Amino acid sequence: MANQDKIKELIDKRVQARLGGGEKRIEAQHEKGKLTARERIELLLDEGSFEEFDMFVTHRCTNFSMEDNKIMGDGIVTGHGTIDGRVVYVFAQDFTVFGGSLSESFANKICKVMDMAMKAGVPIIGLNDSGGARIQEGVTSLAGYAEIFQRNIMASGVIPQISAVFGPCAGGAVYSPALTDFIVMSKNTSYMFLTGPKVVKTVTGEVVTDEELGGAMVHGTKSGVAHFVADDEQEGILLIRKLLSFLPQNNLEEPPIAPCTDPIDRLEDLLNEIIPDNPNKPYDVKDVIHAIVDTHEFMEVQRNFAPNIVTGFARFNGMPVGIVANQPAYLAGVLDINASRKAARFVRFCDAFNIPIVTLEDVPGFLPGTAQEYGGIIIHGAKLLFAYGEATVPKITIILRKAYGGAYCVMSSKHLRGDMNYAWPTAEIAVMGPKGAIEVLESKNINKITDPVERAAYIKNAEEEYKNQFANPYNAAKYGYIDDIIEPRNTRFRIIRALQTLATKKDVNPPKKHSNLPL
Ligand code: HXC
Repeated sequence: MANQDKIKELIDKRVQARLGGGEKRIEAQHEKGKLTARERIELLLDEGSFEEFDMFVTHRCTNFSMEDNKIMGDGIVTGHGTIDGRVVYVFAQDFTVFGGSLSESFANKICKVMDMAMKAGVPIIGLNDSGGARIQEGVTSLAGYAEIFQRNIMASGVIPQISAVFGPCAGGAVYSPALTDFIVMSKNTSYMFLTGPKVVKTVTGEVVTDEELGGAMVHGTKSGVAHFVADDEQEGILLIRKLLSFLPQNNLEEPPIAPCTDPIDRLEDLLNEIIPDNPNKPYDVKDVIHAIVDTHEFMEVQRNFAPNIVTGFARFNGMPVGIVANQPAYLAGVLDINASRKAARFVRFCDAFNIPIVTLEDVPGFLPGTAQEYGGIIIHGAKLLFAYGEATVPKITIILRKAYGGAYCVMSSKHLRGDMNYAWPTAEIAVMGPKGAIEVLESKNINKITDPVERAAYIKNAEEEYKNQFANPYNAAKYGYIDDIIEPRNTRFRIIRALQTLATKKDVNPPKKHSNLPL
């Protein structure tokens, strides 16, 4: 064959490989409101930056006459490119080829880019859309999954791993995304479950749809499996690009500093007014977050799961931080099982990737009751405690209002190596709220009073006295547990200065194989 013909052959093969399962299947994919693997990669990466690997790989299966049915690439598109000029590795499952099902060769391609991402110390992004293990292959497919899982585990805490689920993701296949740092799902076109509706019906008799069992809304609100729920794939892909802008390339790098046009000493007068006079009245802590961060931009993580705690990324003077904030506008900002799990995972992510943590605290305590105790709030609450206590990144805490009981200790207190702990003058730091405290301390005296009016007056008086003594930040400040009491409108500046001061902070944990986080 002449050289020119060889080049033409290459070009023709590339064209053919890029068609995946063919035009009809591409059309079917579009009809479902889904993009193809290559279209997704195009959107994700900087224009023209994608370099594909292993385009000519095919499977090696001979069962079910599969040797006569080979498609170049074998249903997975892999390679590298850039996002905002920074290198990432990527794989995208191609549903048009054998339903995106995973063969041995398919898994090898994913493992190859995961290994290369680890060597280069850059993020790996997986775009999932697959019928799961390729049934014709049997155990080699299962082995392929396990090889991927092992790499997910080794990469955890070393390079950011981000998964998008843009189609089916069922059976054990869900565990690769679950082992990564963040999962993005798209509404109406994606689902994740261990056992599908048919098996559920057979085993338990429960009738449920794909969407009800494992759709994006379910995982965004009930299970917390999805960190981001996008209206469509395009939005999901933009979310990934934005998320990466806050993250370093690996655990040895610092997060990237962005140019900042927002004045660092911007005073926010509304913050001096935001805490209601009545301590039982809610306000939206997101108003505080938006007021203090650069250009009011906050990227919330797990927005609709456990909304009694808010987690997400923002910048102060261009420096990325993770924000954890109790949300008085939902369940009074109480800490429960889900809130503890959500915040603990977020804190650990930030710590693993050198992202300072800013904690905004207004928490009445842990949620009491049998549901929480039977569900193991002791262990789940301990996760958050552990995560904060273990974290060595700069930790800045602002107590806005309530810091009661165990929750005071948990929320990045001075005693858990909090670096800069500030309080607003509206802070109330005590073992419990006035009502509960007086009930415990004064019950004998209260019960002696028979006249209801007199009794109410006695309680009111006792509560008032308790409040005067404990419902303020000065007691804590007296012991040095609070470094300073700050004017709310100056919070942005104080956080920025704290971050600048802590930029060279070093803290270490004792050498060990690994900790025994209360799982
Ligand atoms: C081989 C598969 C496949 C699979 C789909 N296909 N899943 N081929 N192995 N796992 C093929 C179909 O035969 C079909 O080929 C093409 O992909 C498109 O599939 P359709 O069924 O036509 O598409 P759709 O109607 O959209 O349904 C998609 C689907 C369904 C819901 C994913 O295909 C399905 O239920 N597949 C099986 C899912 C499953 O149970 N997988 C195993 C999960 S357990 P043709 O040529 O006919 O168009 C698992 C274990 C992992 O994965 C363990 C890890 C430890």
